[in-house]
Formats: sequence, C-alpha cells, structure tokens
Amino acid sequence: MGFTLDKVVPWGRSFNEYVRMFDLSEVDLKKRILGCGDGPAGFNAMLSHAGGSVVSFDPIYVFNTAQIRKRVSDTYDAVIKQIRLNQADYLWDTITSVEDLGCTRMSAMDSFLADFETGKIEGRYVAGELPSLPFQNESFDLALSSHFLFLYSDHLTAEFHLQALQEMLRVAKEVRVFPILTLDGKLSQYLDLVIADIKRQGYSAELKSVAYEFQRGGNQMLVIKPVAGMN
Ligand SMILES: C[S@@+](CC[C@H](N)C(=O)[O-])C[C@H]1O[C@@H](n2cnc3c(N)ncnc32)[C@H](O)[C@@H]1O
Repeated sequence: MGFTLDKVVPWGRSFNEYVRMFDLSEVDLKKRILGCGDGPAGFNAMLSHAGGSVVSFDPIYVFNTAQIRKRVSDTYDAVIKQIRLNQADYLWDTITSVEDLGCTRMSAMDSFLADFETGKIEGRYVAGELPSLPFQNESFDLALSSHFLFLYSDHLTAEFHLQALQEMLRVAKEVRVFPILTLDGKLSQYLDLVIADIKRQGYSAELKSVAYEFQRGGNQMLVIKPVAGMN
C-alpha cells in the first residue's frame, strides 16, 4: 500500500460524538457496525469495551501505535492553530473552546491508542482503503463514514464516492454518512448525484437532521437503505 503517514493529520472524534452524529440508538449500538475511515477515533474502543460489535477500517492501521502516536503529537499544534484561526466556522456550544476541543480529541485518540494493538489482534482495526472493502456481503448491519466521504469532495472524485458507497452497501444493510458538507462548509457538490444514483439502484437515500453540529451548518447525515422488496 502506497499510503504514507506524513500525508495524514490524525484527528479522532469521541464515542459520544459518533452517537450524536449518527443518531445511534441503543438498538443501533447492538448492531454489527463498520466504521469506514475511523482513523484514531475513540468510537471502536469505547463500544467494544461496552460489549458492542464494531470493526474500524482505515489506511493508517498499517502503522503501529508508536508511529500513530508520534504523528498525532507532531501534527497536534498545527491543527489547533488552524482551528483557532477559523474559530468562526464552528459552533462552540457543546465543545466550548479551542482548549476544550483539544482535550476532547486527545482523550478520544488516547482511548484509541490504548486499544489499538489489542483491537488489531482481535480483528477490530482493519487496514485498507476505500473504495474496496475486504469483507463478505452483508457482514455488517450498519456502515458509517464520519468525516471522510463528502468532507473531502475537493480531493476525491464523484466516481470514488459512488464506488465507495456501493461497496459499503455491499457489506452492510444500511449506510450513514456524516457530514454532507465539504471542508470549507459548503454542501458537497456530489450530494445530488450520489442520491440520484443510489435511488436508481433501488435504495432510499434520505437526509436526516441530528443533534450534533460543530462545523457550522453541519447537522445532517445521509441515510441509505434498501427499499423493501428491492435489491
Ligand atoms: C478526518 S479523519 C476522520 C476520522 C474519524 N472518522 C473521525 O470522525 O474522527 C479521515 C480519515 O479517513 C481516512 N482515510 C483516508 N483515505 C481513506 C480511504 N481511501 N479509505 C478509508 N479511509 C481513508 C484517514 O486515514 C483518516 O483517518
């Protein structure tokens, strides 16, 4: 795999943020969940320790804990500086300050780092890159993409988005994507095309408002499911 860590800025969200971003109910948390592009998020560590079933998939998992920890600490100051410069682009109600954000993210990434080696052995952290997934059809009930698809629309093609979602729908019965905005806070230019393509294939694709907004205006997820009787 030609993936190098120096291109990655590891920045992981917490279990509670995942729950709010994806509107995960108690029932959802008992499902077999796949997190695509989970990176150093704390979701897998927390949910697995609570007895849940979750696999995270990300190219950074080819590296070891020490390498990822070093990259987190090498990039941390630059990320915080960037957010400080662009503070107006974020809502500071739940996360109340840049310092609070730094603590929340570091705590999520620390729980990931503490869990990573064990989780890798248990098959809960799988290294690889969308648009391909190394899983059997319908291995999961729910596949999630947090801050990867749509967010990087200016770096990833429409074709990549369509293939990645198709692949997520092959391995899971339902897909949720958050946010539907790009890095500069605009609605992804691929959203309409993706929704039209997915509906053509016999799935429902709906935007749902959620109780999470940090990037201003970013409070909607895309939910994709098969329409009953089709697929
Ligand atoms: C902004 S981070 C989001 C991390 C986590 N989902 C969260 O919300 O905290 C984006 C993640 O996408 C991963 N990524 C990059 N290219 C990918 C690919 N082709 N397939 C899957 N994940 C990828 C990166 O390694 C990184 O961990």
